[in-house]
Amino acid sequence: MCAAVKQNKQSSIGIVVFASGRGSNFRALCEASQSGRLSARIEALVTNTSDAPVVGIAREFGIPLLEHSHRGLSREAHEELVLKSLDAFSFDWIVLAGYMRLFSKKFIRRFWDQDLNTARIVNIHPSLLPSFPGTDGYGQAIRYGVKVTGVTVHLVSEGLDDGPIVGQAALDVREDDTEETLSARGRLLEHQIYVESLEKLLTKPWRVSSPQAGSHPEGRGRVVFEGARA
Ligand code: GRF
Repeated sequence: MCAAVKQNKQSSIGIVVFASGRGSNFRALCEASQSGRLSARIEALVTNTSDAPVVGIAREFGIPLLEHSHRGLSREAHEELVLKSLDAFSFDWIVLAGYMRLFSKKFIRRFWDQDLNTARIVNIHPSLLPSFPGTDGYGQAIRYGVKVTGVTVHLVSEGLDDGPIVGQAALDVREDDTEETLSARGRLLEHQIYVESLEKLLTKPWRVSSPQAGSHPEGRGRVVFEGARA
């Protein structure tokens, strides 16, 4: 497939994408890398589910596939396998796109960047965090009855869907929305926001500010882009 040739191989910023399922965000990242909207070359896809649609997308785009089932393995043993296979690749960031596994503290520390004060791992979540963490963000929004929900791109820390927020976008919940219609619209927004937030993260100067004194007890610190007001 010629798509592989067209991938943005010139980029000096390498990313590895981790995904377990449908892969619509992975596809958006591949297309953005190909078109130059994302200044990153996708070094590999890591997946724990060999029969997931995302596997076919990696093949379509000619991206090396690292399949490691977690079945029958401890978290640590599975992560060791993943880390070992990543040794052959050169990359700067891990980009999570629907990866249905939590990382151990050890794994997160392995990618810790002292200067940036964060692990070099980024995730997208289908809600306006800190609302609706965990699975099924769009379903939670429908069942709760909110009028506005959204999507969040955030750096990954040790807690569930925790870590400084890189970018967010709001999504109106329509009166006649079902979980299906809301998530279909939400995913389109995700594809756009993930590429935009990632591009900013990879190419612009930023820092992580500490949670402010007297802030919310679960305050996560913020990603502050240079030129933006802290
Ligand atoms: C997305 O909703 C993403 O926000 C969440 O997992 C889902 C993955 O969807 N983390 P897809 O596999 O990219 O279509």
